[in-house]
Parts: sequence; structure tokens; C-alpha cells
Amino acid sequence: MSREFTKVGVIGLGTMGAGIVEVFARNGIEVVAVEVDDAAVVRGRGILEHSTARAVSRGKLTPEDRTALLGRLRLSSGLDGLAALADCQLVVEAVPEDLELKKQIFARVDRIVTEDAILATNTSSLSVTEIAVATSNPKRVVGMHFFNPAPVLQLVEVIRTVVTQDSVFEDVRALAERLGKRPVIVADKAGFIANALLFGYLNHAVSMYEARYATREDIDAAMRLGCGLPMGPLALMNLIGLDTAYEILDTMYRQGRDRLHAPSPILRQLVSAGLKGRKAGRGFYTYAEPGSSQVVRDALTPNGVGVPGASLRPVGKVGVVGSGTMATGIIEVFARAGYAVTFVARTQEKAAAAAAAVARSLGKAVDRGRLPAEDAAAAAGRMTGSTSHADLGDADLVVEAVVEELAAKQELFRTLDTVCRPGAILATTTTTTTTTTTTTTSSLSVIDCAVVTSRPEDVVGMHFFNPATVMKLVEVVSTVSTSPDVAATVVELSTRVGKHPVACGDRSGFLVNALLFPYLNDAVKMLEAHYASAEDIDTAMRTGCGYPLGPFELLDVVGLDVSLAIQRELYLEFRERGFAPSPLLEQLVTAGYLGRKTGRGFHTYA
Ligand SMILES: NC(=O)c1ccc[n+]([C@@H]2O[C@H](COP(=O)([O-])OP(=O)(O)OC[C@H]3O[C@@H](n4cnc5c(N)ncnc54)[C@H](O)[C@@H]3O)[C@@H](O)[C@H]2O)c1
Repeated sequence: MSREFTKVGVIGLGTMGAGIVEVFARNGIEVVAVEVDDAAVVRGRGILEHSTARAVSRGKLTPEDRTALLGRLRLSSGLDGLAALADCQLVVEAVPEDLELKKQIFARVDRIVTEDAILATNTSSLSVTEIAVATSNPKRVVGMHFFNPAPVLQLVEVIRTVVTQDSVFEDVRALAERLGKRPVIVADKAGFIANALLFGYLNHAVSMYEARYATREDIDAAMRLGCGLPMGPLALMNLIGLDTAYEILDTMYRQGRDRLHAPSPILRQLVSAGLKGRKAGRGFYTYAEPGSSQVVRDALTPNGVGVPGASLRPVGKVGVVGSGTMATGIIEVFARAGYAVTFVARTQEKAAAAAAAVARSLGKAVDRGRLPAEDAAAAAGRMTGSTSHADLGDADLVVEAVVEELAAKQELFRTLDTVCRPGAILATTTTTTTTTTTTTTSSLSVIDCAVVTSRPEDVVGMHFFNPATVMKLVEVVSTVSTSPDVAATVVELSTRVGKHPVACGDRSGFLVNALLFPYLNDAVKMLEAHYASAEDIDTAMRTGCGYPLGPFELLDVVGLDVSLAIQRELYLEFRERGFAPSPLLEQLVTAGYLGRKTGRGFHTYA
């Protein structure tokens, strides 16, 4: 039988503490909360009142339950306030991420509570063992790591140190389950599962922003729309708190000496300036007021789409080259948006198959009630298949989606250069991957397509995501030669066809893959190091960060061979040690375990 908890304490009522108090009180547990001073108590109570009022307005809590919830709270402040914890069976500490502060608090609370009370820290990255040994009985200390917002996210990482008594972490695990959470037991290592995988990615996104590779809006939109994440990385940093994020990264860096965890310099500057994110009303974005989630305009907010001062080129007729999955999706996107589309395939059969694929997809949209039958017929009427590139002569924009091979793409661009009218925009959907044959490895980027033409200024990347008809994101990639009006036209056109364009430069992985794949690689390395199982890692990222799929589920969907190729390419481009593909991934690919398509990858499929 696990222990029944009826009264718990929480120290610190900030971003996390207030949420943790709410979780306990909602589940009928009495809570004693202690803050630094009276002002902090008032602020903490305000966070709780606001959050529970919102739950009532959304119908997730009745007004009576809210009153009962708030009635279970006792708030006290200052050092004397800690005395109020004397009869708590469990105390969860959620003060700022500062080891000395946490040690002091644990040493003090250790003398206040009864012998059988459990002490838990909500630290994100600090050593639970070091905190534990500041007490007279380290056996009763565990990590109880909630995720932000604590009332919403299910994951709780229960951190077991080498001294934690079995009954202690079992009781905490059972309590987490009773609170409706998904506990995962892990050992004491900086960042545990979720933060160890999350923060490298967040820091990478911050460096992209700092290097002006893309705007904050585009970086965030790319990850939301390209990967289905609930929030973009910079918005998430603001929610976490930039001071907390800095401390977590700093601790992770000091423990692992991984350069990718060294906090991006801009983080320290923002924190020093007091711009700590949502709680301060400003961080990477500006908010209506401290604590508000409403983003308001500021000096960095873009003024509409496009590049200032760049005039747009008129686009009426569109050409598409290719007949595969991406090409047919792109043909459909343009045809449905009202554009006349000429598509060129290598043979009559392939052209007919592409037209049939689009017709099938249009038919499905009609069946599902998403498209009126007459609109589908009109879209089909706007498509013309061909096997001759000469038919692209009057297109204003040609998008190619042929096989991802340097030689094939370059040959096509030479042809397009001869047949297309002057001023036509030539776009490639390349993902910039490396193709390796038995003798050569060639890296393909947008500029490689541009240089074989006499008009590199007209060549741009237009990277759709699969399935193109569904995925909203389009990465608009400018090379060093792309003319600003070409990029601006493609950005505007993408919006017109119902997509969300983001602008970036011609670097391996553009925005999405560059941010996604190093994270996936980190997950493989964590598995390889036997820190946690693939199931626990997947659960942690789904339930702790709200990701639609865990990293191994995603790798299995993408295909391990494809993932490995992208990771190799990222490593070759940036030469970051941390990007080097994990040997485990290489071995799985060698063994033919490529993911869902072969029935086995990291997981096994029926
Ligand atoms: N922010 C997140 O997303 C997140 C997620 C999980 C875990 N954590 C961890 O939770 C802990 C708290 O982080 P946060 O983001 O809530 O920080 P925060 O700055 O929002 O809140 C910390 C609170 O602790 C109070 N405090 C400071 N000294 C105190 C003391 N001596 N006694 C009582 N209260 C004191 C502060 O007044 C403040 O209200 C950190 O260890 C952090 O790493 C944070």
C-alpha cells in the first residue's frame, strides 16, 4: 500500500510553484505554500486565482470546486513561514534554479518537518543528490519534476538518486498517478529526460535568432507548423522564463561540456536587462502585461509579408516539374487556389498517373465535405499534363520536385534556363540533403541549382512539407544570389495559396530540419547511453512537452535511412560534434531496420 497524502507543502509560488499548488489542491489535498515575502504571497495567490478563474470560464472547474480548492490553501511568507510546513507529509520546493538557495532551504526544512516527511525538489537540472546531502537524511529526498503549465501537462519525472529510499520514490510515483499524472522514474542527471532533449533545441533556436538567420515569428511558426509542436521555441522560452532557461542550460553545459548547451549570449543579455519572458511582460516577444500570454506589437513585429521595398512579380501561370508525391501535392495546391498549372513528367504514363493522383485526392476532399464538387472540377480543369519542358515557356513560376539528386536537378535547371521566359521565377523544393553513390557524396543546396542557370537571381527554394495539400508550412529559401523581389513574390504567393511562408537562408536543414534532427539525434544518444527506454523517452516528450509524437515514434515514421542522411548532411555542413549521427542509428540502418516501412525501427510494428 502506498502512502496517503492529505497535507503537502510547496515552497515558492512562481511560474511552477503556483501550478503545482493548483494540482495538489484540485485533488483534495491541503496545501501550505511559502513565499519569500508578503508581496510574493500576494503575487502567487494572484496567479492561482487567475488560473482557476480561467478554468471555471472554460468549464473545466465549477465555481464551487474553485472555492473549495482555494479554501485548501494556507499561505505564509518569510523564513518564519517555513514553520507552517511542520505537519506536511511532503514538501515540494520550487524556488529559483540556484543550488545554494535550494541547499539552504532543504537544510532548514529538514529540521522543521517530521522524520517521515518526504522532501522533493522541482529542479529542472540541478543535482538532486547534492541537494539531498544538504539534509540530515538524504534517503527521503527525491526529484519531483513537473512541467509547465503544471495543471495541464501530464509528465512528472521522479528523480531517484543513489541514496533515495525505495519506499520514498514509490510513494511519490503513486502520488503522481493519483494526481492524474504520468510519472517516469529516472536517475539524477542534468536535464533528466525531457529538458536534456528540449534545451539543446531551444538554445539552437535562440542562436538562429541571434544570428538573424530568421525572424522570431518565422522560427516559431516553422516548428509549430512544420512539426506540429504546441509552441515555437522562442515562445516556449518566454513561458519557461529566460532566467530559468539560462540556469538550466548553464548547469547542463557544466555537467556535459557540450558546446550546444552553452547558453546563447543573447539569453544572458535579456536576463540582465530584466527581460525574463512572460512573467516580466517581455522577453523574445512583448506581452500585454507581466504574466499575460497575449503578445503585443513591438519594434520587431513585421509589417505584413514580404521584403520592404521589393516589388512583386506578377504570377498567373504556374509550372510544376515532377510526378511524385511532392509534385502532385504541389500541383493540387496551386490548381485549387485558382492557378493554371502545367506539369511536366518524364513520360506520358507518369503524367497520366500524376493527373490521376491529383484527381483521387480532389475526390477525397469532396467526399469528406472539404471541397465543393464544382470547385474540384474547376481545379481539375486548370491542370495540363505534358512531357515537354517547352510547355513551361509562358509560366511565371516553375516549381521543380524531381528526384533529390544533384545531377538530375542541375540538368533540369539548365533546361529551364533555356525554355522559361526572362523574369520567370525558378523554384526548387530540394531539402538540401546529401546523395551518396558508391563513388561520390554530393551535397545539394538551392545555390547549386541556381549557378547552372544564366539567372541565379531568379532561383529560390520553395520547400513544401509532406503532404503538401495538408501541411501549412513553406520555407522560402533565399541564396546569396536570390533577388529580394523573387523571395518576396514567393512569400506572397505562398500566403495566397493558403500556406504559411517562413523566410530563411540556404543552409543545410533550413529551419525545421536543422532544429528537429539534432534533437532526434540527442534522443538516440540518450537511448544508446541506457539512461531511459525508448518508451519512456517518447512518453516524456509527448506528455511533458505536448509533442504529437515522441522522438522514436517520429524517427520510425520519417524512416531511419532518411533521418540518417539528413543528420549526416547537418554534420557535414556545420561540423558540430553534437550533430554527428549516433552509432546506434547507423547500425539500425545497416541492419535494415528502417522504421515503419520495414516493420521495425526503434519500435516494432505488426
Ligand atoms: N519554468 C519552468 O518552465 C519550469 C519547469 C519545471 C521546473 N522548473 C523549476 O522550478 C523551479 C522554480 O522555477 P520557476 O520557473 O517557477 O521560477 P520563478 O522565478 O517563476 O519562481 C520562483 C519563486 O520562488 C520564490 N522564492 C525565492 N526564494 C524563496 C525562498 N527562500 N522561499 C520561498 N520562496 C522563494 C520567488 O519569489 C518566486 O516566486 C526551478 O528549480 C526551475 O528549474 C521550472
